[in-house]
Amino acid sequence: MHILLTGGCGFIGSNFVRLVLRERSDYSLTNLDVLTYSGNLENLADIEGDPRYRFVKGDINDRDLVNRLVAECDAVVHMAAESHVDRSIMDGRPFVLTNVLGTQTLLDAVRALRGKVKFLHVSTDEVYGDLPLDQPQVKFTETTPYAPSSPYSASKAASDLLVRAYQHTFGIPAIITNCSNNFGPYQFPEKVIPLFVTNLIEGKKVPLYGDGRNVRDWLHVEDHCEALLTVLEKADFTSGGTYNIGGNNERSNLDLTHAILKIMGKDESFIEPVTDRLGHDRRYAIDARKIEKELGWRPTRSAWPGALEQTVRWYVEHPDWWQRVKSGAYRDYYEQQYVKRR
Ligand code: NAD
Ligand code: DAU
Repeated sequence: MHILLTGGCGFIGSNFVRLVLRERSDYSLTNLDVLTYSGNLENLADIEGDPRYRFVKGDINDRDLVNRLVAECDAVVHMAAESHVDRSIMDGRPFVLTNVLGTQTLLDAVRALRGKVKFLHVSTDEVYGDLPLDQPQVKFTETTPYAPSSPYSASKAASDLLVRAYQHTFGIPAIITNCSNNFGPYQFPEKVIPLFVTNLIEGKKVPLYGDGRNVRDWLHVEDHCEALLTVLEKADFTSGGTYNIGGNNERSNLDLTHAILKIMGKDESFIEPVTDRLGHDRRYAIDARKIEKELGWRPTRSAWPGALEQTVRWYVEHPDWWQRVKSGAYRDYYEQQYVKRR
């Protein structure tokens, strides 16, 4: 199988590339990534020379490029996105351009191939809005109505609806996955876990939003990638539909923060309460029974505290990676690796 992966230089994408190359010797990948601030070629420096892997620098809104690359593949795994909620609150426009219009550009290319190419759309649980804190039994299912809160989640919801519409109207073979919060190596340190861990390593405080009672359902990134591979290989793309993916691992931000402080041997004085995020969703929780029942997937790498300890250790042991990201120096890599070689 030849996969066209979009956004493969980001956090989940780079973990997906590594997993596929490691676990599927007969698969190859083309990674289409425009390298925004969160796209980092260094995330894949170790596999750059693999003959089954090819990097193409480009935008998912570049119609000609997208048409050409989609025509060469058996399946598109679409992850390219603007992904950070706080950035979408500052400026929603890039989110609409990439997440909505970019998805439509890919869908048009897939549609033109009349059923030859599968489309796996990687989306988020945030499309469902949020859940109350006082009803722990209530979780998001695949039929929960969409009620996105932030410009980020609204743009992802719009992209999901486009996928559904193209599936319904043109019969493109497509599946949507809606996943909970991921953690693990190579996550951009604007997201809460790498931000808190790297701040603590630097001796800085951790900015906890609001009362810290907001809850997220944490899944290790490799479990997510394994789930995506399972969907790609086992789901019925002709019928379409959705799979929720989650870790069954709900933690409040306060509990998460205390766990990180404990692993790092720091006390509560390192918590800095700050003004809450605008429109901050209270709780996300995924009911992942459908993917387990129909496709046999369940998380195997997400159990706490082990998986969190392992993740903290990765950032402790890779200061060069996150220091270059935090300082912006990682952007020189493209220049050195590609531009100066021309
Ligand atoms: P990320 O920000 O780390 O990576 C996004 C990647 O997309 C970057 O490499 C970036 O350069 C690339 N990109 C952005 N705009 C592009 C464009 N116009 N053309 C080509 N490439 C472009 O994001 P992530 O956390 O790895 O998330 C990947 C996907 O998974 C997103 O679609 C996100 O909505 C979804 N998701 C993320 C999580 C999570 O917890 N991180 C959970 C559920 C779903
Ligand atoms: O649920 C899936 C989503 O998870 C993905 O679709 C998004 O791409 C991904 O960014 C993530 O969204 P969140 O907004 O949940 O992740 P973030 O790491 O930004 O924040 C997690 C929680 O931590 C959230 O309740 C806000 C809080 N937080 C975050 C930051 C950055 C803080 O308290 N302080 C912070 O500095």
